[in-house]
Amino acid sequence: MNENETGGTLPRHIAIIMDGNGRWAKQHGHIRVKGHEVGAETVDMVVSCCAEIGIEVLTLYAFSSENWQRPAFEVSALMRLLRSYLKRETGRLKDKGIRLRAIGRLDRLDAGVRRELEKACRETASGSVMTLNLAISYGGRDEICDAAATLCREVSAGKLDPDAISPELFSTRLNTAGLPDPDIMIRTGGECRISNFLLWQLAYTELYFSDTLWPDFSREELLHIIHDFQHRERRFGRVPE
Ligand code: IPE
Ligand code: IPE
Ligand code: MG
Repeated sequence: MNENETGGTLPRHIAIIMDGNGRWAKQHGHIRVKGHEVGAETVDMVVSCCAEIGIEVLTLYAFSSENWQRPAFEVSALMRLLRSYLKRETGRLKDKGIRLRAIGRLDRLDAGVRRELEKACRETASGSVMTLNLAISYGGRDEICDAAATLCREVSAGKLDPDAISPELFSTRLNTAGLPDPDIMIRTGGECRISNFLLWQLAYTELYFSDTLWPDFSREELLHIIHDFQHRERRFGRVPE
């Protein structure tokens, strides 16, 4: 566990459902895509803030497996934004020691976006300050099914004894293998649901639902949530000491 300047225990892993871009745009008289553009600025702020204060892993839900069902115009705008984010930020992430990683069904991305993503992951691979984990074309149920299928293949190839399958082993077959489970999950935009995000990993995560729309989410609110987290008692099913 990390200790910050104020002596509180810092979360190791923060996961965020960045929701509310479309409603922000509507409120400001713009088309939805403008909300995604302004939301990208919030991403920069949150990434910098987390790296500065010593968070080990930041997972951002950027595009869900269900978001493919949005109108083609919006999907292609989101993909264009992702690509320009990677082009713009890879050098800066590298300079800040931030390692980029991606989870999700990346094979569904078009070749250009995928190439850019792989390049960014490769070029930042030695970063040791923080891992920025982007959930793209990601669905928690897909991820669990894929892990189950991997284990089934290992069993049928005679490489794995079914009795050896434990939660710990299962975790190593998920996209998030090697990362700690999130300590904090924040969803902006006022909805109180998980929307297929990290279904396995959130088992004992502290949940925060904020009414703030993602483009309006601030450093102050993030720090306030972390501060609140530091005062929560996590029992993991046990009784308080
Ligand atoms: C979140 O904002 C961004 C993505 C899902 C890609 P939304 O686009 O869902 O915004 P709202 O929820 O419609 O306001
Ligand atoms: C969740 O938001 C996905 C992302 C933020 C990437 P959605 O806006 O897609 O979720 P629902 O439709 O409100 O559940
Ligand atoms: Mg939404």
